[in-house]
Amino acid sequence: MKNVIITGAANGVGKAIANILKDNNLILIDINKENLKKTAEAINAKYYICDISDDKEIANTIEKIQVNYKTIDCLINCAGMWISGDLSKMEEPIYKQMNQLERVKKVIDTNVFGTIAMITTIFPIMKEQGYGQIININSQSGVMCEPPFPIYNASKIGANAFRKAVQNDLAQNNIKITDVCPGLIQTDFYKRANNELPEKIMNNGLAPEDVANTVRFVFDLPHEITIPSIEVRSIKNY
Ligand SMILES: NC(=O)c1ccc[n+]([C@@H]2O[C@H](COP(=O)([O-])OP(=O)(O)OC[C@H]3O[C@@H](n4cnc5c(N)ncnc54)[C@H](OP(=O)(O)O)[C@@H]3O)[C@@H](O)[C@H]2O)c1
Repeated sequence: MKNVIITGAANGVGKAIANILKDNNLILIDINKENLKKTAEAINAKYYICDISDDKEIANTIEKIQVNYKTIDCLINCAGMWISGDLSKMEEPIYKQMNQLERVKKVIDTNVFGTIAMITTIFPIMKEQGYGQIININSQSGVMCEPPFPIYNASKIGANAFRKAVQNDLAQNNIKITDVCPGLIQTDFYKRANNELPEKIMNNGLAPEDVANTVRFVFDLPHEITIPSIEVRSIKNY
């Protein structure tokens, strides 16, 4: 049984990952208190409410976790936010609302800063224990800009660049890191941003469990084997 932190575990992909890894000591993190409690209680996991875009909340949460856990075997960064809209569409009410600069900042702070902050906070713990594994739920939008979602692309490509830039240093400390990059997934991700996609498009996406199975595959590899980046898509939405 490994000690595994999962962010964004209240809903969607993070919840599916928690369910598939429930035979481990899970430490679930999310900003959505109500759903986090439900997810954690259903599988008897520990949970911490934490906004990963806030460095002080991260520091407090990890400090509390360290009281109960001597090691962190794996960190899974899954929390993320959606944002869409070309610059030329910004005057349309739906995009204007979604792209208020305050919200743009929150997306960048969650998708890029949150991922970087979780890794930099956990790194000294993994370095000290002499091993570790990090899995980031990135995106097809972190690999290419087609179709373009400029701010979301910038956030996911930024997180992807960070992973590429640190993977060698991490490997020298016996810590491996993987970006799992899925295409469209059938979760409430878009609905939460008031940008619900048509049902016929959503129906062609991956199930959250498909992404969780990919994470399980990466998680179960022998420690000496690492996959830097893995793309996963539904053949119906290629
Ligand atoms: N759905 C897709 O099509 C898709 C495709 C490729 C990649 N991804 C990536 O997959 C990951 C999971 O997405 P999902 O589809 O499972 O979305 P989801 O159903 O919206 O779940 C995301 C969870 O993260 C939480 N969260 C958001 N901001 C947070 C913060 N600052 N601190 C802590 N928790 C926060 C959300 O809380 P709230 O409920 O309060 O918002 C929610 O519980 C994301 O990183 C996303 O970018 C999604």
